[in-house]
Amino acid sequence: PEVRVFAPATVANMICGFDILGFAVEQPGDEVIMRRKQQPGVTIKEITGDDGRLPLEPSKNTVSACVQYLLQALNIASKVGVEIELHKHMPIGSGLGSSAASTVAGLFAINVMLGNPLTKEELLPFCVEGERLACGTGHADNVAPALYGGITLIRGNEPLDVVSIPSPKELVAAVVFPQVDVPTRDARQLIKDKVLLKDAVTQWGNIAGLVAALFKEDYDLISRSMKDILIEPTRAILIPQFYEMKEIALKHGALSFGISGSGPSVVAMTRDEQIAQKIADSIQAHLKENEIESFGYVSKV
Ligand code: HSE
Repeated sequence: PEVRVFAPATVANMICGFDILGFAVEQPGDEVIMRRKQQPGVTIKEITGDDGRLPLEPSKNTVSACVQYLLQALNIASKVGVEIELHKHMPIGSGLGSSAASTVAGLFAINVMLGNPLTKEELLPFCVEGERLACGTGHADNVAPALYGGITLIRGNEPLDVVSIPSPKELVAAVVFPQVDVPTRDARQLIKDKVLLKDAVTQWGNIAGLVAALFKEDYDLISRSMKDILIEPTRAILIPQFYEMKEIALKHGALSFGISGSGPSVVAMTRDEQIAQKIADSIQAHLKENEIESFGYVSKV
């Protein structure tokens, strides 16, 4: 039998909620095709779309390593053999949850192949381990929305406590990836591990405001709340044209603008698909003028 799974890209942090908020987009995403094989063990048959950057060696590749880890946890690693094809349809190191999408697709596929022994809640910790392998920390704010869909809040990490939050009907995201590489590992090392209490108060006011706004479908409150005073000033340095892109987005009516995940992708939130498209196009045109290639995606949240 063959199992095919698509897992979506995700916008972690939702601008104000570092490591605790994230949402899935409709496109792009990664695809895993998994087939049974006679011999026990997990092997990678093929990876496409990665420009040869990802390891094919099963113990080094995040997807196969996580699948193997799950088989071991279920005590069936010596009996089950699977072969994996990974088709990446999004850039690596982009701030779009690329590693998370691959990991979630792989773990979802093996779970389906085994007849769904695990619930999504039980599958999630394995996905988090994948993130730890990929970038050194087990943040769940990409894997949770990639697995559950929609918007998720990571209320706690130990133990994992994930809350799904409703998506306001009109909320649309414009995501632009300027083609420069910013590995999450590096983007995490850059940020300070101490914050001032007064800044923390501002930030958690914004996070609480955003969560309330999502439930109330209050777009003005979304706009007021989706601001990041803690991380953005530091990480923006790694993103070419960041403040110029922000100005373009806000000028065209974005509710909010900020970094997607650890960057360099950026996200503009809107309540209108046409506005979102206009913002993506204008930002991409601006980047082109500055000799930076980019990809743009518009998606319901
Ligand atoms: N919350 C993580 C970070 C997401 O900002 O580093 C990484 O995609």
